[in-house]
Amino acid sequence: MNPFKRTLITSALPYANGPVHIGHLAGVYVPADIYARYLRLKGEEVLFIGGSDEHGVPITLKAKKEGTTPQAIVDKYHGMIKDSFQRFGISFDVYSRTSAPVHHETASEFFKVLYDKGEFIEQTSEQFFDQEANQFLADRYITGTCPKCGFEKAYGDQCESCGTSLNATDLINPKSMLSGNVPVMKETKHWYLPLDRYEPWLKEWILEGHKEWKPNVYGQCKSWIDGGLNPRAVTRDLEWGVPVPVEGAEGKVLYVWFDAPIGYISATKELTPDWKKYWKDPETRMLHFIGKDNIVFHCIIFPAMLKAEGSFILPDNVPANEFLNLEGDKISTSRNWAVWLHEYLEEFPGKEDVLKYTLTANAPETKDNDFTWKDFQARNNSELVAILGNFVNRVLVLTNKYYDGVVPAAGALEARDEETLAALLQLRAETEKALDTFHFHEALKSAMEMARLGNKYLADMEPWKVIKSDPERVKSILHICLQITANLSIVFEPFLPYTMEKLRGFLNFGKMGWNELGRRDLLAAGHRVNAPELLFEKIEDEAIQKQVDKLLATKKANELAQATVAPAKPHIEYDDFAKMDIRTGTIIAAEKVAKTKKLLKLTIRTGIDERTVVSGIAESYEPEQVIGQRVSILVNLAPKNLKGIESQGMILMAEDKDGRLIFVAPSGEIGDGAEIR
Ligand code: MF3
Ligand code: ZN
Repeated sequence: MNPFKRTLITSALPYANGPVHIGHLAGVYVPADIYARYLRLKGEEVLFIGGSDEHGVPITLKAKKEGTTPQAIVDKYHGMIKDSFQRFGISFDVYSRTSAPVHHETASEFFKVLYDKGEFIEQTSEQFFDQEANQFLADRYITGTCPKCGFEKAYGDQCESCGTSLNATDLINPKSMLSGNVPVMKETKHWYLPLDRYEPWLKEWILEGHKEWKPNVYGQCKSWIDGGLNPRAVTRDLEWGVPVPVEGAEGKVLYVWFDAPIGYISATKELTPDWKKYWKDPETRMLHFIGKDNIVFHCIIFPAMLKAEGSFILPDNVPANEFLNLEGDKISTSRNWAVWLHEYLEEFPGKEDVLKYTLTANAPETKDNDFTWKDFQARNNSELVAILGNFVNRVLVLTNKYYDGVVPAAGALEARDEETLAALLQLRAETEKALDTFHFHEALKSAMEMARLGNKYLADMEPWKVIKSDPERVKSILHICLQITANLSIVFEPFLPYTMEKLRGFLNFGKMGWNELGRRDLLAAGHRVNAPELLFEKIEDEAIQKQVDKLLATKKANELAQATVAPAKPHIEYDDFAKMDIRTGTIIAAEKVAKTKKLLKLTIRTGIDERTVVSGIAESYEPEQVIGQRVSILVNLAPKNLKGIESQGMILMAEDKDGRLIFVAPSGEIGDGAEIR
């Protein structure tokens, strides 16, 4: 039924300009890892590719911001990302990087082949140029207003608000990210991949040939193709990247989205000299695991590149996910609104699988989904601990207690026993069907059903009671429970690999292939199991509160940073300032001005006199709160009649971001009447 001999799994190469967070994990790496582990468990030939995307403007911008070189940035984050993936247990066969020499060669060669075949259009056009920085402004070097949705901080290549992919020249009010200046136009030559030529082929290949792709993926492809495809520039005027390998291209590099997917090929080369069988043999099935913002690149542009080259296979499926939010808000690196993998690993040691479980249970497969710490706790405590962990623990404790850890032989089976054992095969089929169609959330649910099945069987059979009346029967019950437990160690292997290793240790049981799943004789009578420890630990409220507090602190910091500060007013001369007579003073009486919301009538001792000032501070203070308050008062403001009261001056107030007024008052020991200047 599967015409393929092997599977090549690629996972989007994360930009090495920051650490990875739960959004990356839920969208790409956890599902890809589950799938890779599943296929390996089935004994299939599979290669799982990962690596860092180390070119592109996000990297150079980050280097500029941190006052260092792009190489230093990618070295730092590549190391960090690779290490945290490894500790988390993402089972890449290779984790490479696009700054590697093998990648530069491969990407360069790829471009050269297309160039020599005449697959590019060479075109000179006017592009944005920053005269002060003496640089062309590609992609994220330019921001402006999105022509589609009006978002004011869209980038030259994409609007992150509406997701539209843009050309820099589409932006309204473009501005340089380097100097903040309005750019000028300047001529430059680039190479374009004429996507329009591939339209008929893409229609046939995707719209006719891949109707089985997920609706979100198919839909995006359709709207791109229906909207009409245009030539895409595949080179840029930048210094950081793979140099364009042709004459007359000095100072130009390959566009990051041209070189990065070729990184999948380079990584395969890095791993094995036998790389061609993965990339050129039609019996290889290629799958791209990505997030939804990468769909067009993996479904349209990269396939067009591969097609143009001519000797490579094309993806068979692109199971792209939607986005994961965090506590109801979009995950954002710049706002630090994320759960960072390297921090999670430090703060929840030994709980790698709990995060994998939660992210799969809440996978953003068909729509954006939300991660909350409360849900994380609940998934752990009421599913992993209370169902899976509890069942395994009770079975092993009872086996040790009644039979010294030796698997008892079963006697004659009753109807309920048969039903329960038959359900194992049924659940295997359900899990398999979901995995085969990339429904990982569904698959995990079916696996969990197996633990629920065991739990329910054990609770209904009550061996702890039966042991007194019918000890022979208990042997059958526990025999069956032990078979379920052994099956659990197989069915959960793709999802919870660290925990299943632990469970196999408890069972004293080797790693079994997926094809053994559903068997009722995995543990022979007489086999000795070990004494169990806990499979999962409860997560307490304090640990969760700590995480919630951390996010609250981030939210506060962001709000403060966001409070807009009004720009400075035009210059004035010193004489203008000197005209104002501002004194220190004290409020000695205060009352509300009748029929107003905002006004207080204040009596102020100014050192010169005692006078009345009507002040608009009643929404921030009650009269009794301000008596005794020190103030700064402008005493030579012309008197003004407010609500029938003559106001003789004005006190100085500052407004905080919530609109509350704060007194601007002398901070040290000083009497009334001192001049402020
Ligand atoms: N770095 C890109 C991103 O994070 C993904 C690149 S995927 C590749 O969106 F195919 F180009 F490598
Ligand atoms: Zn937009």
